[in-house]
Amino acid sequence: MPRFYLTTAIDYVNSRPHLGTAYEKVTADVIARYRRLCGLSTHFLMGNDEHSQNVYQRAMELGLEPRVFCDQMEQVFREVWAKLDVSFDDFIRTTEERHRVAVTTLVQRIADAGDLYEGEYEGWYCVSCEAFKQDKDLVDGNCPIHHTTPDWIKEKNHFFRLSRYRDRLLQHYEAHPTFLQPDVRRNEMLRLLERGLEDISVSRTGQSWGIPLPFDPSSVVYVWFDALINYIAAIGYGTDDERFNRWWPVDLHVVGKDITRFHAVVWPAMLMSAGLALPGRVFGHGWVNWQGQRMSKSLGTSVDPLDAADRLGPDPLRLYLVKEIAYGQDGDFTWERFEAHYNADLANNLGNLVNRVAAMAHKYRGGRLTSVAPATPVLADRAAELVGRYRAAMDEHQLHTGMAVAFDLIDATNEFITRSEPWVLAKTPDRRAELDQALLEMSEAVRIAAILLWPAMPASCTEILRRMGQADSVDDLQLDRDTAWSSVGRQILKGSPIWPRLEHAASHVVAAAPGGVGASKGANSKMTNETEPVVQPPQEGGDGEAAVTDTAPAPPAQAVAEAEAPRLSFDDFMKLHLRVAKVVAAEAIPKSKKLLKVTVDVGTEERTLVAGIARSYAPDTLIGRSVVVVANLEKAKLMGVESDGMMLAATDPEGNPVLLTLDDPAAAPPGSRVR
Ligand code: MSP
Repeated sequence: MPRFYLTTAIDYVNSRPHLGTAYEKVTADVIARYRRLCGLSTHFLMGNDEHSQNVYQRAMELGLEPRVFCDQMEQVFREVWAKLDVSFDDFIRTTEERHRVAVTTLVQRIADAGDLYEGEYEGWYCVSCEAFKQDKDLVDGNCPIHHTTPDWIKEKNHFFRLSRYRDRLLQHYEAHPTFLQPDVRRNEMLRLLERGLEDISVSRTGQSWGIPLPFDPSSVVYVWFDALINYIAAIGYGTDDERFNRWWPVDLHVVGKDITRFHAVVWPAMLMSAGLALPGRVFGHGWVNWQGQRMSKSLGTSVDPLDAADRLGPDPLRLYLVKEIAYGQDGDFTWERFEAHYNADLANNLGNLVNRVAAMAHKYRGGRLTSVAPATPVLADRAAELVGRYRAAMDEHQLHTGMAVAFDLIDATNEFITRSEPWVLAKTPDRRAELDQALLEMSEAVRIAAILLWPAMPASCTEILRRMGQADSVDDLQLDRDTAWSSVGRQILKGSPIWPRLEHAASHVVAAAPGGVGASKGANSKMTNETEPVVQPPQEGGDGEAAVTDTAPAPPAQAVAEAEAPRLSFDDFMKLHLRVAKVVAAEAIPKSKKLLKVTVDVGTEERTLVAGIARSYAPDTLIGRSVVVVANLEKAKLMGVESDGMMLAATDPEGNPVLLTLDDPAAAPPGSRVR
């Protein structure tokens, strides 16, 4: 059976995991689960990096033996990973014996290859990075990642002849264009290689916490040289050759962008020196930011993943991290965005759809859907096309696109229900077969979407599959087999809402002015209880037609979920003041990739508002445009700028805003009412 070996970075254990470190593990877990779904024999490795000065210092502060402290922290990390449903196959600690053997063996091989020599290092060392720094790496004398002044150290070190491998590395990059992804990381490393490499220090003196060098026990192996070796130690390097040969070379190293150089330059050079094969691929993901800054314990900008998982459940958190942050780029986490996406994607959309399908299956067929004659199913081709697109995206680690494609299938299913009008079919006895077919199709499409989303939301999708009649093979899902369209009858199960709607949460996911919705949310949000169901399924024994037809006229798909919401009276609608406005000025907001500060003329005055449209529009291109604004929205402050109104925008399939503009701007001057 083909195999897939993937790893994450191993974490320093001086503090608990935060949402940034958890992001890496969750995304790697989605990849591991996807590869298993594809039928590959998958080995997913994670672990803890313990020989760090910070870890040692923290243990001293707590009055604990370092090893005892690390034992305690292992439990803390394992608890977080279990809560987030991270399905690693092995967990290595760098204080384990198997690791010591591998480090000693590899370092000796590198020494035997003539690639280690003694020298003296004098220069900067950032303990938080555990990295030697040059002046050019510092910003105003500080480490740009940790914003602290590094230590100046002078000590006898053993050096690794990294410079010797520069040409071979360049050749490898050329021969393997996908060795390092995404391209932005590859280009960074190519520039670095082109500038030339210097030898690096790979031992420390005067420290007891670490693995002694086999040929100089007064020195310990530098923590990074030590840590990288975990990837081969865990699969038996130096202890179990057969196992090692089965799994090496690794298919994928998932690491953060700050440590790409260690993985895409230093590590391959070490492997070359020792005569071992190089990794198939290194993926350098971006950072999870909090208020524009990298989420980090030392910067005081961290969110506890347990809090986030407790708030709405581990699966919604996993989905948010994978779907809303383009893999490879940085992305934000805020409670408001998390809640808004939860409501939009899960409570109002997928969860609602699952309940609608189950409710209709029960209302019209008592939950038992029968096999239908092989009429061409309307959704089958679309599902097959989307499964193909999903695979293409996931194979290339475009996780966010994979998730978006799965939601395209959900949208297509919502549209299908709207168009096929099962509530109308149910009224006419001679359209019975059409109704059977429609019910079967919608349940089948939901079943397939649940398989596509399963790597991100394993527990919830297992439940959806159970409700859609696929209970037996859930433990052994296979992408090819199980996403093939089936017209076989099934028993549909009803259940309480999987994702109760949050009341008072931000409701606009990509609003042109998030300020309109983001100001007063967060901790006040609460879930609706089960007596206030999220969906309006056909009422048992009531007039199902009325309940379902209410939901009908709402394509495009993203809007379908909103159509389930209670209808507004005309008077209520008129409370909303939508007006034509003309953009008179626009500028970027420092440190924000999404927000622009826009000044508009609303006829009676000029207003400043903050619009989340920077991804689609450069400020200059907005000037003079006629747009539509909500003029009577509460003011809100975003990134320090007061937003007085909201520009309306649609959302394209990639999640980018598309501004609403006027057909004939001259005909409706600023201030004209829109209704
Ligand atoms: N111990 C080293 C890695 C050695 S791998 C042989 C290390 N540890 S760490 O605990 O500082 O970071 C672990 C991983 O978490 C790294 O890949 C790092 O890039 C990632 N992240 C740390 N903060 C992060 C965010 N805010 N966002 C996303 N990933 C983040 O580095």
